[in-house]
Amino acid sequence: MSSDQPIAFTPQRIAGLELKNRVIKAATFEGMSPGGKPSERLLRFHRSMAEGGVAMTTVAYCTTEADGRISADMMYLHEGIAPELERLTAAVHDAGAWVSGQMAHCGNFSRNRKLQRLQRPLGPSRQISMIGIPSGMPIAGAMSIADIDHLVDTYREAARFMKRVGFDAIELHFGHGYALSQFISPKTNRRSDEYGGSLDNRMRLSRRCLEAVREAVGEDFPILGKMSMTDGVKGGVTWDEGVEVARILDRAGIDALITSAGTSSFNPMLMFHGPSIVHGMIATEKNPITRLGLKLVGSKLFRDYPYRELYLLDRARRVREAVQCKVVYIGGCSTLESMERVLAEGFDFIQMGRPLIKDPAFVRNAMADASYVNGCTHCNLCVGLIDDPDGIRCTLEDDHTTAITAATQ
Ligand SMILES: Cc1cc2nc3c(=O)[nH]c(=O)nc-3n(C[C@H](O)[C@H](O)[C@H](O)COP(=O)(O)O)c2cc1C
Repeated sequence: MSSDQPIAFTPQRIAGLELKNRVIKAATFEGMSPGGKPSERLLRFHRSMAEGGVAMTTVAYCTTEADGRISADMMYLHEGIAPELERLTAAVHDAGAWVSGQMAHCGNFSRNRKLQRLQRPLGPSRQISMIGIPSGMPIAGAMSIADIDHLVDTYREAARFMKRVGFDAIELHFGHGYALSQFISPKTNRRSDEYGGSLDNRMRLSRRCLEAVREAVGEDFPILGKMSMTDGVKGGVTWDEGVEVARILDRAGIDALITSAGTSSFNPMLMFHGPSIVHGMIATEKNPITRLGLKLVGSKLFRDYPYRELYLLDRARRVREAVQCKVVYIGGCSTLESMERVLAEGFDFIQMGRPLIKDPAFVRNAMADASYVNGCTHCNLCVGLIDDPDGIRCTLEDDHTTAITAATQ
């Protein structure tokens, strides 16, 4: 290997795992597990990422129990899907990459009517659930201590299962408005017991889940955590508090932190930047009540944040400075030049979402030609396809783009 080799193509470790380069495919909900069963399409999606040269790909939103799903077309980690997941992890390994699974739970953010254990979705505190309204579940309940203990158990069991079916790493979702983030955020957590109030109390559930997962997988097994550096909503986690969240997770033994921002419930565009996804959502939404709701409040919820390369770098730098663990930069890193800039600043890895949806072979192509441009325009139309029967894809060369564009004019 020559000394002028870009840092992006050099190896680096997370806990006991050596990654061959610094690029990890970010979790981007694929929409490829109809009825909760991982499909061949999902396997092909991740194999193509591995063949394209990333060091590790991430299977998005693997929920820890059936009622942790936002919709019934999401997978939950259980024995019934072990053969499909074993095939998927083996396919990624055969293609030369590692595979991580994003372990998540929706908490109160659900529109899944096919609940198995619960009567209705539960979060830290009783509250109105906007996403539940069209499904006839307008109010989410508050978890009891027994519910919290159960949730922690689901994380422990799910982690054992993931390791057994061949995952090489686990990414715990602490951000984006899902269960753990709902407890961390003062916007959604109004509890007065030991799980609410001070940041230390609001982090208690996250710490317990991390501890349970660590106990299940052992010291060497990499556990990454995706966090929101801010919720981006009044009354939620601020940028300053986000740095404290990072410090607490670092002290609690996380191996790497992924520095995202925003929440799906209150301010999703902060994590993406670029054109609002509301137009694509209105165009593809089948439920008339949801469509009406999107037309009425969509532009408030899905705010405009003009895209610029490395749009979260200034904020992520504060986390980099505050913690000892590995830090994974995410958000608008779409060229080799940007990757080198981020890595030269001391970040250990890059996660990429949209650029790899556009071009799964981006890493291989950039290794061959440093000036290679992957062509992602950050139009965000892929995001509107998470409920599409064919799942997410780049629509730039697809008739669908024309259809959505026409429908939004
Ligand atoms: C289609 C799509 C689906 C996504 N689904 C998830 C998800 O399931 N979990 C998650 O943490 N982030 C999700 N994200 C956010 C990405 O992981 C990432 O934070 C964001 O796209 C910014 O990175 P990028 O500029 O490299 O695309 C999704 C993004 C896209 C484009």
